[in-house]
Amino acid sequence: MGCELVADIERLKQEKNAIILSHFYQPAEVQDLADYVGDSFGLSRQAASTDADVIVFCGVSFMAEVAAILSPDKSVLLPEPTAGCPMADMVTVEGLRTLKEQHPDAAVVCYVNTSAAIKAESDICCTSANVLKVVGSLPQQKIIFVPDRNMGQFVADRTDKEVILWPGYCYAHDGLQADTVSKAKQEYPQALVMVHPECSPEVAGMADYVIGTTGMLDIARRADAKTFVVGTETGLAHALKQAAPDKEFIFPQPNIICGNMKKTTLEKIKSSLETLSPKIMVPLDLAAKARLALEKMLTVK
Ligand code: 13P
Ligand code: SF4
Repeated sequence: MGCELVADIERLKQEKNAIILSHFYQPAEVQDLADYVGDSFGLSRQAASTDADVIVFCGVSFMAEVAAILSPDKSVLLPEPTAGCPMADMVTVEGLRTLKEQHPDAAVVCYVNTSAAIKAESDICCTSANVLKVVGSLPQQKIIFVPDRNMGQFVADRTDKEVILWPGYCYAHDGLQADTVSKAKQEYPQALVMVHPECSPEVAGMADYVIGTTGMLDIARRADAKTFVVGTETGLAHALKQAAPDKEFIFPQPNIICGNMKKTTLEKIKSSLETLSPKIMVPLDLAAKARLALEKMLTVK
């Protein structure tokens, strides 16, 4: 059945001139089927450069929105329309406008985990892979950072700029407990500890590397260490094992799972290709404004 499904998807992909993009947190069988698996930054770049007519986005809604904004002439499909990011919903346009009025001299940096409406209100977007470079590229001394308070604090600790935080957080990463990391460090004293910048400052303070998913894969490949304690969504285990099959990856808290990322199934991908739905549409005026923040990010070296 699985093989048949995969064959059907491959056939539909050819028929519709489609490409399948997957985030690292997707179920393993979805990652295995995808034409490209990556982090938010890599996925944005793929979406901006593909010549396919249809993009099937296996991720959450803000990611598919980014693809639709960067490739307005393509059909962008999100196989499971309810797959959202609760953190992205924690910041409102009204709230952000109020903060902008209070700090008119600040640049607004939005994490890619935001709606198109928030991106449209921001000066520049960033991802976990480029957040420090993005903030460093700005002339302003004052930064409003939305919506992740943990990533904002990660930036504040590494820059001399003033960073105004928004109190959003990722329930999965923020749920990683310092005690759990501490126990794992005791149990695996030789291990390198790498955690995502969405983790709490307490957890970040215990890590050898605070870095996004692609950065973790690079370290796994390059470092001499054989064992790694990993603080991110457990879906990354699949790509880590492929990147460094002879190394050991300890996920100290197995409940660091993003339920929304796990909603995509092969059946839904097939149905999405058959019906060319659910399609992600971003109103043109909003997309034009949000595109500025995304394109500005893509120019940062
Ligand atoms: P990355 O950009 O590191 O892949 O992270 C996206 C995300 O949603 C993390 O929770
Ligand atoms: Fe959002 Fe967290 Fe899921 Fe990433 S892991 S999509 S930040 S809820």
